[in-house]
Amino acid sequence: MARSVGRTVVEGPVRLGRVVSRHRNEGPRSPNQSRGPACDGRASDREAAPRIGALGHRALSARRSFSGQAPGQGEDQPLGTVGAGRLSGVSWQGDGTSSVPYTIYTDPEIYRREQDRIFGGPYWSYVGLTAELPDPGDLKTTFIGDRPVVVVRGGDGRIRVLANRCAHRGVVVCRSTFDHVDELVCPYHQWCYDLEGSLVGVPFRRGVKKLGGMPAEFDLAEHGLVSLAVTERNGVVFASFAAAAALPALADELGPEMLRWFDRVFDGRELRVLGFLRQRVRANWKLMFENIKDPYHASLLHVFLVTFGLFRADQPSAVRMDPSGRHAVLISRKGEQQRNETTAQLRSFQADLELADPRLLQPVREYPGEETVVMQTLWPNLIVQQQSNTLATRQLVTRGPSEFDLHWTFFGYEDDDEEMTLRRLRQASLMGPSGLVSIDDSEVIRLAQLGLGSYPEGAAVVEMGGHDTTDTEHMVTETAIRAFYAHYRKVMDL
Ligand code: FES
Ligand SMILES: [Fe+2]
Repeated sequence: MARSVGRTVVEGPVRLGRVVSRHRNEGPRSPNQSRGPACDGRASDREAAPRIGALGHRALSARRSFSGQAPGQGEDQPLGTVGAGRLSGVSWQGDGTSSVPYTIYTDPEIYRREQDRIFGGPYWSYVGLTAELPDPGDLKTTFIGDRPVVVVRGGDGRIRVLANRCAHRGVVVCRSTFDHVDELVCPYHQWCYDLEGSLVGVPFRRGVKKLGGMPAEFDLAEHGLVSLAVTERNGVVFASFAAAAALPALADELGPEMLRWFDRVFDGRELRVLGFLRQRVRANWKLMFENIKDPYHASLLHVFLVTFGLFRADQPSAVRMDPSGRHAVLISRKGEQQRNETTAQLRSFQADLELADPRLLQPVREYPGEETVVMQTLWPNLIVQQQSNTLATRQLVTRGPSEFDLHWTFFGYEDDDEEMTLRRLRQASLMGPSGLVSIDDSEVIRLAQLGLGSYPEGAAVVEMGGHDTTDTEHMVTETAIRAFYAHYRKVMDL
């Protein structure tokens, strides 16, 4: 059930602070947990079903993509079901990105092209952490863009990502957010798939009393769930609808600078999932990415960050990007709650505020270097957050031009002691739909959609720090937003 926190709609239970193993089998019971006739070998002809080997299944997947086109189109030659070329409703002035037309946040045609070229394109989208699926048969449901997928650990221990769309008539097969299953059973006519996505049972395939049934030539091997390309790095799972052969290795996709910051948090230690938050924001998904690429706002909007010195313009900071500009990282370090030349200019600085429980801001250093805030945006759908000792992935799930869901997964490391886990959870109070800091972002993003959505002829002014898209050693800049849109324009052919 949806409920409201502030003005942000939160879907489902807010469950921060509970370990993932206790989530399984919560919520609506999955049809996968009760064996239907397709899986029990009586009404189905499962025994007769040819098993599809990994290779065969990959070949099947490559043949059948959502867009109906050969996947893995290169950036220079995007092909889309929306059609190539300029979109009539969008006019982007000049070649730069210091002006961003408001129509890209509202236009349905743009949105469909994004699904096709960005979320359906040759990029690695984040789908989860391996720690969420420790055992064979564990699954989670999630989305790439707005397409539902299932992430499942097979009997062989491998994690696969399958389109959550029945090969029969398109029904979503798995409904639980987390589950533990032996096989995947569609709720409609109970077609049954194994953990690799191969179709292994069709009820009444041979008919009943010699009547009806599927045609003799019907081949189970032709009707598996679409299997996506998958890659993992230090416990983080990515997938793509593009063919594996068309995708760069993840390390190449990120580049050395982004990889350095990614590996700082995901350093190979086993992760421990601490909890989840989900929120629905009534705004275009790109506004969330912009927000995390925008250090300018962080110094001004957030009373909490500014007052308690967690992120402020007078502190040593930097913005770094990969050569394409699609990924970025904002880096800063904690300062003090003191009045100085900079804080005197900040309305949001409150010298007289103090925390009732100062333990909220008692971080300990756990990585090399002085940086205490590292916010990384990884094209096309992932934010990796380190704010003091609270660590989280935030996954963007699009829901049309004017709405997205943000899925937060908080984590620590298996070797954390109890005190560290408690510290991470305490600091997580800054985050999420009602967090002391993040509540400001989702509200202001909503206000952005409300304002710009009504004025499609307008354009955003993105000129702070100049017009270029280079790295900076300060946070008084919108360079990472300009860089993001430079890449976006190429991919979208705008
Ligand atoms: S739609 Fe899935 S079994 Fe019919
Ligand atoms: Fe913010």
